[in-house]
Amino acid sequence: MIREDVPRHIAIIMDGNGRWAKRQGKPRLAGHKAGVAAVREAIGACVELEVDYLTIYSFSSENWSRPRDEVRGIMSLFVEVLAKEVRELNEQNVRVQIIGDMSAVPVKTRRAFNDCCASTAQNTGLTLVVALNYGGRGDIVAAVRRCMEDSVSGNMKPASLNQEAFAARLSTAGIPDPDLLIRTSGEQRLSNFLLWEAAYAELYFTDELWPDFSRESLLQALVEYQGRSRRYGGV
Ligand code: FPP
Repeated sequence: MIREDVPRHIAIIMDGNGRWAKRQGKPRLAGHKAGVAAVREAIGACVELEVDYLTIYSFSSENWSRPRDEVRGIMSLFVEVLAKEVRELNEQNVRVQIIGDMSAVPVKTRRAFNDCCASTAQNTGLTLVVALNYGGRGDIVAAVRRCMEDSVSGNMKPASLNQEAFAARLSTAGIPDPDLLIRTSGEQRLSNFLLWEAAYAELYFTDELWPDFSRESLLQALVEYQGRSRRYGGV
């Protein structure tokens, strides 16, 4: 692994918690808890490697259709984890940011995230972007709506709409596009994650289930990334 060629932004679809739990004969929530430990490890590795942004797909806009108990369990897990980890995040100089529609998130969970974002806002190291009630298509539609509102209110002429002006209205505004997008658990699809932003991301798939994804696994993904040649449509 070449230290000078570490991606600026890594995005991860953390898949396979449920299957991990099933294999252990445990309830699905035990898989999500084990997933949190893997998140901690990934954050540590990104801090050490001086990655600027790590985006994790923590709860998609489609995940509400899961059994009610599982959704509740995940929402409570966020509250518990954030309260416990905020000190360590500050010690690591990690800034937490949210993308997604927070308006539909239960108030306790929303408050826990808002508190964590506020508490870490001044940090200057890794930015941990948590995608929560996030869906790429929904985010694009919300950006289109903002463009239309700005046009109606006279703040933007239709002719001045370009890719930059559009991206500035996505919830990822100000965040560089991901260079590397990782998905665990053997599935090979985007599942509505960062549809606009991942246009030129290198995709990396591994059969490992998210709770098993270690620092070593991340380093392996980086080695593969560094072996790819990124041409952005050129030669
Ligand atoms: C996917 O596995 C995982 C999730 C939908 C939830 C992931 C959430 C965490 C790991 C917690 C993140 C923690 C913080 C602090 C943000 P799955 O349930 O889809 O697994 P399966 O495909 O095997 O069923």
